[in-house]
Amino acid sequence: MRLTMRLAERSYDIIIKKGSLHHVGQLVNLNRKVLIVTDRGVPAQYVHTFAQQCHAPFVQVVEQGEHSKSVSVWQTLLETMMKLGFGRGDAVAAVGGGMVGDLAGFAAASYMRGIDFINIPTTTLAQIDSSIGGKTAVNLGKTKNIVGAFWQPRLVLIDPETLDTLSPRLYAAGLAEALKAGLLADSELVRIFEEEDCKEYIEQIIYRSLIVKKNIVERDERETGDRAALNLGHTLGHGIESATSLQEEGHLYHGECVALGMIPMLETAELREQVKAICRRLGLPLEVQYDRQLALEAMRHDKKAQSGMIRIVKVPKAGQFRLDKVPFEQVEAVLLGKAEEIPAPKKEKAE
Ligand SMILES: NC(=O)c1ccc[n+]([C@@H]2O[C@H](COP(=O)([O-])OP(=O)(O)OC[C@H]3O[C@@H](n4cnc5c(N)ncnc54)[C@H](O)[C@@H]3O)[C@@H](O)[C@H]2O)c1
Ligand SMILES: [Zn+2]
Repeated sequence: MRLTMRLAERSYDIIIKKGSLHHVGQLVNLNRKVLIVTDRGVPAQYVHTFAQQCHAPFVQVVEQGEHSKSVSVWQTLLETMMKLGFGRGDAVAAVGGGMVGDLAGFAAASYMRGIDFINIPTTTLAQIDSSIGGKTAVNLGKTKNIVGAFWQPRLVLIDPETLDTLSPRLYAAGLAEALKAGLLADSELVRIFEEEDCKEYIEQIIYRSLIVKKNIVERDERETGDRAALNLGHTLGHGIESATSLQEEGHLYHGECVALGMIPMLETAELREQVKAICRRLGLPLEVQYDRQLALEAMRHDKKAQSGMIRIVKVPKAGQFRLDKVPFEQVEAVLLGKAEEIPAPKKEKAE
């Protein structure tokens, strides 16, 4: 399957095909220097398969984990390229999850004011979500993604076979972003999650999720309007993520937090039950212990909270969304377990 992203500055292809990692050279020019960025947790066989196809590959393996998405590691990548004499026509490639993709993408965006970036995502989250949209970044101290750039890749190559080595929990966490895409704009995708074997349907799931993201991103490349819809589940989810990241035990993955954050944004009890059943089926946790006050604090600091109101994304029915601005207390009530959902604003109800 192939998807072409048509953007004002330049277009690029996203290839989704089992086994495609063996044929990257047929899709993009590898007859040049390529800095391959990966982390220690990514099975080396993937890097090896790709590197063999490059004329002059240089592999840079960073430590696994979010802390490698830092200014100092980014600087190391730039220094490596400088030492190796990388020029305008050379390229950076990412082989790994969203962490490696963001880091390598930002190195490509900034070296000599931007060189080619080839993205080979190997986690469900990266294949479904982070590899498209053109956002690249590193963290500064504890602040996530604060240093970065919009930089579109030359090619995104998605080989679902690379997911075979992922832990079942990480695999499921990434699927939460696909469930999000279905809830926003593709009810057939929600049906697949409900009735089909996800592993068997993985190419379809990735393709359909990317179409949803593509349609939204192409309309709104720099996040001024509709792109905010992709934040479904993320407002509450980020609060939960901050609170659980401080606990010694019970740390949750991003996708798991998003799934938890999505449920109160569904406007009917029936849809909430349907989505909870899907989460159980996927192995996404629904009962989680965390400090709710801490989660609230994190959300208050979130850029989405302004003057007592907060922007959220609601789903009236599977495949449809609406952007709302609601009083912060309504989100607080849901988080504290005093309410199951956030009520629709009055004017929408009258329609
Ligand atoms: N740019 C965007 O639009 C965007 C969107 C969402 C998330 N992100 C970013 O993505 C990052 C999270 O991505 P992630 O969930 O992929 O995490 P990750 O990149 O940290 O990968 C998770 C773990 O999986 C391992 N791994 C990767 N591929 C594997 C494979 N095929 N088999 C076995 N293990 C493998 C890695 O070594 C790592 O330990 C965060 O930094 C987040 O900010 C970016
Ligand atoms: Zn997300």
